[in-house]
Amino acid sequence: MRVTIIGAGNMGRGIGTRVVAGGNEAEIVDRDPDEARKLADELNGAAHGGGSATAAEPGGSLGGDVVVFATWYPGSLEAVKQYADQLGGKVVVDISNPVDTSTFEELVTPRDSSAAEEIAKAVPEGTPVVKAFNTTFAGTLVAGEAAGQQLDVFLAGEDDDAKRKVAELVEAGGARPVDVGPLRRARQLEELGLLHMKVQDPLGSGFKSAVKIHW
Ligand SMILES: NC(=O)c1ccc[n+]([C@@H]2O[C@H](COP(=O)([O-])OP(=O)(O)OC[C@H]3O[C@@H](n4cnc5c(N)ncnc54)[C@H](OP(=O)(O)O)[C@@H]3O)[C@@H](O)[C@H]2O)c1
Repeated sequence: MRVTIIGAGNMGRGIGTRVVAGGNEAEIVDRDPDEARKLADELNGAAHGGGSATAAEPGGSLGGDVVVFATWYPGSLEAVKQYADQLGGKVVVDISNPVDTSTFEELVTPRDSSAAEEIAKAVPEGTPVVKAFNTTFAGTLVAGEAAGQQLDVFLAGEDDDAKRKVAELVEAGGARPVDVGPLRRARQLEELGLLHMKVQDPLGSGFKSAVKIHW
């Protein structure tokens, strides 16, 4: 599978690492094309299992069947609008935790919505949006585990085929996909993402922890 990742930052690196580890192709796009190239080179250096990475120019055509917006909200919404005319027929993945970055106390989305649902309003009609990866810290995605445990990646969305596609990618990369239901479950996932950030300081876990359902 070919996955376009918009944003060559921390999560671009984390998700890109899992994509190539699973034998899939990552296409990296960033506002700064040098950053995209650097990350693609780094991912190719670490690739095993047949995966590979390439860099593409910002504003150019997107080659992935799945497009992951590894950008900050509301920047993600702007990026989705920027690429909207190319998103038809693809699966859009929103990974954002839409935190108020001035306080890190609240989400900036309306109480009766989520970043994923706001993004779903901006994509072309019929384009499936899947919420994924917002509870997994970037470093744990690079490592492929947290404290020796397999990562759980929670998926929310309306379209079962789209969720299955993202689940395949997650599984190929060595993590466990957990389907948590329709896209409105993104509200709980995004609050959980904020909670996970808030406990880092008191626990001293240095963003190396994972949210996992274990029994
Ligand atoms: N970091 C984590 O552990 C973590 C965990 C779970 C979820 N998340 C979520 O993941 C998202 C990304 O976080 P991050 O830590 O990876 O951020 P980051 O390191 O700042 O990376 C974001 C990258 O995206 C680029 N970018 C922004 N808008 C773009 C556009 N329109 N086109 C192309 N590239 C664009 C940024 O470029 P500029 O530098 O020029 O802006 C930057 O290189 C956020 O929504 C965050 O809530 C993060």
